[in-house]
Amino acid sequence: MLKGKHVLIGVTGSIAAYKAAYLVRLLVKEGAEVKVVMTAAAKHFITPLTLATLSRNPILTEFFNPENGQWNSHVSLGLWADLFLIAPASANTLSKMAHGIADNLLLTTYLSAKCPVMAAPAMDLDMYAHPATQESMDILRARGVEIIEAASGELASGLDGKGRMEEPEAIMRRVNALFSRRESLKGRRAVVTSGPTREAIDPVRFISNHSSGKMASAIADELARRGAEVTVVSGPAAVRPSEPGIRIVDVVSARQMYEATVAEYDKGSDITVLCAAVADFTPESVSPVKIKKDGSAMTIDLVPTEDIAAAIGSRRRQDGVVAGFALETDHAEDNAMGKLRRKNMDMIVLNSLEDPGAGFGVDTNKVTIFFRDGSRRDVPMASKAEVASSIVDSIEKLLN
Ligand code: PMT
Repeated sequence: MLKGKHVLIGVTGSIAAYKAAYLVRLLVKEGAEVKVVMTAAAKHFITPLTLATLSRNPILTEFFNPENGQWNSHVSLGLWADLFLIAPASANTLSKMAHGIADNLLLTTYLSAKCPVMAAPAMDLDMYAHPATQESMDILRARGVEIIEAASGELASGLDGKGRMEEPEAIMRRVNALFSRRESLKGRRAVVTSGPTREAIDPVRFISNHSSGKMASAIADELARRGAEVTVVSGPAAVRPSEPGIRIVDVVSARQMYEATVAEYDKGSDITVLCAAVADFTPESVSPVKIKKDGSAMTIDLVPTEDIAAAIGSRRRQDGVVAGFALETDHAEDNAMGKLRRKNMDMIVLNSLEDPGAGFGVDTNKVTIFFRDGSRRDVPMASKAEVASSIVDSIEKLLN
């Protein structure tokens, strides 16, 4: 399963560091090539010799070897890895990762890594529950780090609670799932619309909305991580996808988004996710000069924009999946089901502005996915990265 995979293990200062030895052994047994980077604190808990022997590679702890000046390149380490798994991840390291602190080789490698990153926290229960630690984990999740939640049980302090690093066998299941998932959409082409559109009123003013592009970027990144070839048609969004290889077509107006999305769909799209918050109306005419105020009220005549989802729905391929979104403020389920039918989509993801922490701008979302056959799937409040993973799981089920 892991034959030929490069797994970089990061070990930080925690009593659970002893479990890293067993984890390294399991990875090597499954055919992975393993390298280990340790923090200085980790060496108090497990010796580099143990991990070097088990991984069959020298252990990296410093930026350079003080004896011969040889440089340990965090950039090449980050590029070498197919997976960077930090286990155990201490509260200190999680916090530094979340805030971009780069004061040891493990952290500089994390900041340079292009591969998926997993972290298995280990600490005392109060440290784990502390808002600072929870916030660090939320920040990391939102950036795509897969946090392997700590388990509950007896802790080194003698207390009982949540904070134990997950057992190596359970971590191995997550590693195997990640690698099998990565291949699951290989050869598939995906088109994702993202962000708001801007409808010009005059050269300086426009009508738009609050979409940041976070939800669409998380979906595009998840599709790319699973091996799909992804194109994002993006309005002027603050957030862009971060996975390498994603093609971005920049547009501004609903008209431009319509043209670009239909063109991309017609090239052949197995998965189409219409996540953009497209303006439903646009000014009938755009003033060529800045409109001056003259003290009186003004009226702008608006006309409907093209409905991209309906256009894609009308040419929907039976062997592909078209997923839309519905952003509602009232009668949410009825409205979402109505859009699913009218726009002829395979599934629609409902998020409601009535739910705090869901919808525009925030890092989290809470959605319900409705399918053509009338079934539904509730996805509880989680980071947009985790919600994206559930949405893509549902897309995959429909594809297969
Ligand atoms: O970008 P974020 O800040 O992360 O916020 C995410 C989000 C809230 C924008 C996203 O989760 C979301 O709900 N996107 C759809 C918003 C929307 O326009 O919903 P709607 O109910 O108005 O539209 C229904 C569907 O039709 C959507 O798939 C939309 O992309 C599509 N549509 C709408 C109008 C139009 N002219 N063309 C379309 O294709």
